Amino acid sequence: MNRRQIMTLIVMSTLGLGLATALSQERGFIEKGRRLYVRHCAACHGRDGKGNGPAAASLKTPPPDLTRLQPEGEAFPIYHVMNVIEGEKVVPAHGSCEMPIWGTIFRRARGEALMRSDIYALARYLEAIQAKRSP
Ligand code: HEC
Repeated sequence: MNRRQIMTLIVMSTLGLGLATALSQERGFIEKGRRLYVRHCAACHGRDGKGNGPAAASLKTPPPDLTRLQPEGEAFPIYHVMNVIEGEKVVPAHGSCEMPIWGTIFRRARGEALMRSDIYALARYLEAIQAKRSP
């Protein structure tokens, strides 16, 4: 093997490793989001996200189907979903919000940085369970 071939090999394996790391990081976020979802969200939104959790019946507003947040043919609105989950920027005039303000709850329990990564993981999990996926 000459020098050039060795360099190519090093570059290729570094790229491969980077890709593998990125992929496992992706899976890590979705899996973390799934665990947070089961613990904090499934009571109202249901295990499958369709809005039929055991606590749903006692709410004035029925919890929406979270598998249908992505409009047909469009990208998953991840920033919008993160803001809704965080809850602190949502305008109160939009009605009495029955959903807990997760941004405040997670920040109190885990601090600012972990709160952000929890909300990101939850949004990535919701993206993974969308009924409609853009091509
Ligand atoms: C106490 C019941 C309850 C729990 C627990 C709950 N939600 Fe909700 N959620 C609601 C209700 C009710 C709505 C409808 C809007 C409203 O009244 O706030 C909603 C709305 C939403 C929306 C907006 C959907 C849309 O159509 O725009 C998202 C996203 C969402 N919830 C995600 C979550 C996530 C993620 C969790 C867990 C961290 C969670 N919810 C926990 C009751 C709940």
